[in-house]
Amino acid sequence: MIKAQDLVLPSVAALAPYEPGKPIEELQRELGIGEPVKLASNENPLGPSPRAIEAIKAALPELNRYPDGASYELREKIAARHKVGTERVFAASGSVEVINLLGFLFLRPGLNAVYSEHSFAIYPLATATAGGTLDGYAHDLDAIAAMIDANTRIVFLGNPNNPTGTIYRRAEWKRFLARVPEHVVIVADEAYFGFVRDPEYPDSLDDHDDQRLIVTLRTFSKIFGLAGIRVGYAVARPDIIQMLHNVRQPFNVTSLGQVAAIAGMDDTAHIARTLQVNAEGMEYLEAEFRRLGIGFVPSHANFLLVEVGDGRAIYDRLLRAGVIVRPMNGYGYPHHVRISVGLPEENRRLIAALSAVLEE
Ligand SMILES: Cc1ncc(COP(=O)(O)O)c(C=O)c1O
Repeated sequence: MIKAQDLVLPSVAALAPYEPGKPIEELQRELGIGEPVKLASNENPLGPSPRAIEAIKAALPELNRYPDGASYELREKIAARHKVGTERVFAASGSVEVINLLGFLFLRPGLNAVYSEHSFAIYPLATATAGGTLDGYAHDLDAIAAMIDANTRIVFLGNPNNPTGTIYRRAEWKRFLARVPEHVVIVADEAYFGFVRDPEYPDSLDDHDDQRLIVTLRTFSKIFGLAGIRVGYAVARPDIIQMLHNVRQPFNVTSLGQVAAIAGMDDTAHIARTLQVNAEGMEYLEAEFRRLGIGFVPSHANFLLVEVGDGRAIYDRLLRAGVIVRPMNGYGYPHHVRISVGLPEENRRLIAALSAVLEE
């Protein structure tokens, strides 16, 4: 019998599916835990904007209709927000859709993508290649630039990086841009953009021009609290956007996703609350980790990479205590877990469970 694996590229056959954070329902089913806390997927613990919920409810009677395939109104709104033309914006079913489409468009056997082995797990899935480097826990853009060769077509840079929460700063980024050859698509994955307060944090949108192939990725999944409805977007040169349209699904963003993102974008009160909850939660978690003598990587986002010893074992024990975090073996950090900042009560439950587990 011919196996499907024999009919696809060997690099694709060798992949393992993306392992998401364990859903709350799954833990309830498996361990019978009443009210687990999920701090595993860097979601917004406050939920979606109430405005987005209203917009979704209002759109429900129209679900018999297909969405606007081009997400026109949403793209117009994003374009206006960033003061660019609508032809420079691509709306997607989460920013991971763009990551996948870029791999599909620009890579083929013999070509490569460069990214850190300690960054978002979708990059290798989209490209079926590996490489790149970090300096300690932060991106080393000079080293990454040095890895680019004639066959490199894409560089993926998470800024802030997942799972380390680290950023590269403006001077390093400018130096990198000056070094990268013209044929390389530079993907600045800024999923956590809204959380960063460092004055030297570069907004890659400022560096778009008609020479370089820069793709800026943003998402409604994090600060906007809409991970479940799957909306993200890319800003890039119109020729790149055109290629993305050529290969996307005809209706890649759902009608509910479009209205939710449009409504949620303007909810500055919700965003301000989110930032406050995140800043306070981050401060609490850092203080508690210090008190407990647990190492962590200072983070610019809404999660922390925390050094716990045997990460997988601690993850399992925390699960039994009803707290879902993320094991980091797949990200090359077997001694860490990644913990998303939650609501105050969720953070307290995590600390109580982690203290107990570490004492065992
Ligand atoms: C760096 C990074 N990029 C992209 C994403 C995915 O976002 P989306 O939900 O828009 O697909 C994540 C989600 O965890 C992420 O950490």
